[in-house]
Amino acid sequence: MKHLLTLALVVALATFFASCDKGSNFDYYYYSAEDYALLSEYLNLPEAPPDFSPQRAGGLGPVSKAIDRDKATLGKVLFYDKKLSRDGTVACANCHKQEFAFGDNTAVSKGVFDRSGDRNSIALMSVPSFASDYGTDLNGPGAKRFFWDNRAETAAAQSRGSITNPKEMDMDMAEIAAMVRAQPYYEPLFRKAFKDTEVTEDRVTEAIAEFVNSIGSLNSRFDQAVEENRRQGIFDVINFSLTTFTPDENRGKSLYMLNCGSCHGFDQISTPFSQTPQGTFEQLTHASNGLDAQPSDAGVGGTTGLNTDMGTFKVPTLRNIAKSAPYMHDGRFATLEQVIEHYSTGIQPHANLHFGLKNTDGTPRRFNFTEDNKKDLIAFLNTLTDESILADERYANPFR
Ligand code: HEC
Ligand code: HEC
Repeated sequence: MKHLLTLALVVALATFFASCDKGSNFDYYYYSAEDYALLSEYLNLPEAPPDFSPQRAGGLGPVSKAIDRDKATLGKVLFYDKKLSRDGTVACANCHKQEFAFGDNTAVSKGVFDRSGDRNSIALMSVPSFASDYGTDLNGPGAKRFFWDNRAETAAAQSRGSITNPKEMDMDMAEIAAMVRAQPYYEPLFRKAFKDTEVTEDRVTEAIAEFVNSIGSLNSRFDQAVEENRRQGIFDVINFSLTTFTPDENRGKSLYMLNCGSCHGFDQISTPFSQTPQGTFEQLTHASNGLDAQPSDAGVGGTTGLNTDMGTFKVPTLRNIAKSAPYMHDGRFATLEQVIEHYSTGIQPHANLHFGLKNTDGTPRRFNFTEDNKKDLIAFLNTLTDESILADERYANPFR
């Protein structure tokens, strides 16, 4: 009997110490029992928030500053919450859908009361990491700006713009704060993110910005192939074949590096740099790719007022491009085939046409791709899809 008692004690102690050892045990009590029960009535959230920092293929670690996981969790709930709109039907996620790389599959998305916007939704997963790519709030002055016309400087300013846009969510920020206060599930989330439950306009936009900044995509077949080449000591992505690519993907990569990389970026990791006519390199934030001879949308010119910017638009990075059709600022092309056809035969003689798309006599350059070229280019563009992130629970709709 005595032995049995001793044994029971030893087992109990061993179990106790073993459980203390596991860090995850603390995570289990991340939210108080009452808070987690309240959250679970409305939301499908893990018992502890995940690490939101975008990670590189091959376990190379995070690429940007650490993301605050409590603010990002709050921001994710706000991002998916339709109550934040005038008619209660439109959340950020209506036009930025995870399955379409956080873009939309229509040319122009519908906002409140079925109002249509003017431009195509931008796929938020077209960049390797929002935080490292964009925004003066993380990168200081000179950082890449938001929207097709580069009009917003910070992720918070961008969110404010979407919430108050009459064709998107059509709310004013004071109404948003009141709406957030009225939903019981925000109290525990604010307490975690900001240490108290006070709801302010700035906190709302700060949290949404934290979630948007956590979005990133670094695990496409292209990334994995670059990683594998590096492991083999081959660091030149532009001139050397990727050993895990098929022959057509490698031919497509060569065509891309030669004809597209100077604007859209060579490694799909860093911000595109472009060669100037003088032979120097500068960051390319916007350009005309000759969609129209007479553009109806002023684009960046509408933001800066400069003649040289009229009809120019943000040069997007092409990550997950196969998932974010339709294409261009107005969603005019339904397929990648049509995009390639544009560069092959369709470039128009626009006054601000980028010099890389002009012949020496100033006429629009026509790439005149062969059918095989076109197939190879598309095979390459398809390697930029990151399937893991498109289904990643961390970014999924949390509402029950
Ligand atoms: C009704 C559809 C709609 C809603 C709702 C919407 N967006 Fe957008 N979003 C767009 C469109 C369209 C653009 C491109 C607009 C432009 O460039 O003029 C865009 C652009 C953006 C960009 C710029 C991306 C870049 O690379 O420059 C970000 C970030 C963004 N939206 C985040 C959000 C957030 C956060 C919310 C919610 C607060 C939101 N959007 C709500 C349609 C929408
Ligand atoms: C001179 C710079 C330049 C070159 C070279 C260039 N592009 Fe573009 N590309 C742009 C700009 C600017 C846009 C956005 C235009 C707009 O929407 O008004 C764009 C848009 C795109 C889009 C649509 C992106 C989206 O999210 O809707 C695709 C796809 C694309 N380009 C592919 C290519 C391919 C493939 C090549 C090479 C054959 C290429 N581009 C060469 C500047 C360039």
